[in-house]
Amino acid sequence: MSGAEAAELFVHPDRNLAMELVRATEAAAIRATPFIGRGDKNAADQAAVDAMRKFLSTVNFQGLVVIGEGEKDDAPMLFNGEEVGTGNGPKCDIAVDPIDGTSLTAAGRSHAISMIAVADRGSMLDASSVFYMRKIVTSHEGIGVVDIQKPIGENIRALAKAKGKPVEEMRIAVLDRPRHEDLIREIREAGAGTRLILDGDVASGINAARHDTRIDMCVGIGGSPEGVATACAIKALGGFMQGVLHPTDDDEKQQGIDAGLKFDHVYGLDDLVSSDNTFFVATGVTDGELVRGVRRNGPLISTESIVLRARSGTLRRVSADHQVSKWLDD
Ligand code: FBP
Repeated sequence: MSGAEAAELFVHPDRNLAMELVRATEAAAIRATPFIGRGDKNAADQAAVDAMRKFLSTVNFQGLVVIGEGEKDDAPMLFNGEEVGTGNGPKCDIAVDPIDGTSLTAAGRSHAISMIAVADRGSMLDASSVFYMRKIVTSHEGIGVVDIQKPIGENIRALAKAKGKPVEEMRIAVLDRPRHEDLIREIREAGAGTRLILDGDVASGINAARHDTRIDMCVGIGGSPEGVATACAIKALGGFMQGVLHPTDDDEKQQGIDAGLKFDHVYGLDDLVSSDNTFFVATGVTDGELVRGVRRNGPLISTESIVLRARSGTLRRVSADHQVSKWLDD
């Protein structure tokens, strides 16, 4: 390797990093497993955070948590601004959600994942001061066709035409929340069907951008940190995404303005994460359309993960068998 290549590797995360990071989401998912269906979402989250934190400390990179588990005083683990990794290797922004779907996990429901997104340092939008973002995610067919500012019916018809399928066959994922009552009605009035999700709009956003799923579009108001993490995955899938910040009161809006955020502004994929060198890894905690959940097979614990890398445009599935005995004590 030339000196220039070595220097480049030191600055920018490379392909090896993604495969390293999957160890951390696997660990978080495995450690959360005893808490599935136990009704205690904080305990599940804490177990996942602890495991992810431990594994991240062994990864050769200089990660700055841009999207973490809240501010330092609220959550002492993986807080925004925390530095993770060995302190050697490329400087990166990192977004973590040790469990996206803590309530799903606590209830024993499907579709909970553990995820990490990484991009070049300074490239992720720090939207942490505003909790919610209105989002729209589709596959590449939505590029130049779909626009978050247009009525949902118009977007559905335009995307259906671009995909060459009847509107009646379009499935639109939306978080099942009272705030989406009108949106859900308008989707159905347009002739499309909804896929109402209880939680976890990262996995649904990714599924909307993939080609072998039943979801064509993911829309509605969800977490803005989840929006930025989703953007890292959508870049790798070559899909389409836009977001508009959605403050819930004047104080939050002011905090956003102080942090340099813009309202009534459409954040495109490049605004959400400016680097094209993004990585996204996720491991299933409970079974879902994106990845299977953790399962125990005698002396083995099996995990399924996806690893996405924008530079190469690859989505890899990683199946791993872990020996239960190795996970008992530490
Ligand atoms: P957590 O499991 O990390 O709490 O997030 C679950 C989630 O459903 C996200 O996927 C989504 O973006 C957000 O919460 C929606 O927020 P709310 O539950 O307040 O509508």
